[in-house]
Amino acid sequence: MTFLILKGTHLVTVTVTLVLFLLRISWAFASSEKLRMPLMRWLPHANDTLLFASAFATAAAIGQFPFSDAWLTAKFLAMLAYIVLGHIALWRARSVAERALWTAAALATFGWIVLVARCHDPDVVTCLAG
Ligand code: HEM
Repeated sequence: MTFLILKGTHLVTVTVTLVLFLLRISWAFASSEKLRMPLMRWLPHANDTLLFASAFATAAAIGQFPFSDAWLTAKFLAMLAYIVLGHIALWRARSVAERALWTAAALATFGWIVLVARCHDPDVVTCLAG
């Protein structure tokens, strides 16, 4: 029961981080001032903090941890990469092409994390082939 609540919270925050990123990156591409609205200054960070917290709580519930179990190490490091890539795409990109590249990298990283989660294995190619 506890596990299902924690995993449910994890999956909600995972969905919210993706929706918020897609919303903000579409505003960034459109050079919209909405990107700078006060809500968007704190909500993504609050949600990502909750994502991390629920992720570690879910991991603790199944007795597996980053830097102890390879698939969780992969997810943890890839999540940091996803946050950095997303930040660059939103705030540092100097042209539309550059923004598109960083956005693709952030979304590819996110997709890879989902596959690692499904497989419980960082070697998603072998996992999907098998
Ligand atoms: C953007 C980052 C993340 C995404 C997109 C993501 C995605 C997912 C998804 C889709 C699942 C469900 C898998 C399934 O039911 O087959 C899941 C489960 C899980 N995730 Fe994450 N996750 C992220 C970050 C993390 C991090 C950083 C950790 C650990 C520190 C973590 C730990 C877990 C655990 C323990 C489960 C439960 C696995 C199980 O059901 O046995 N996640 N995650």
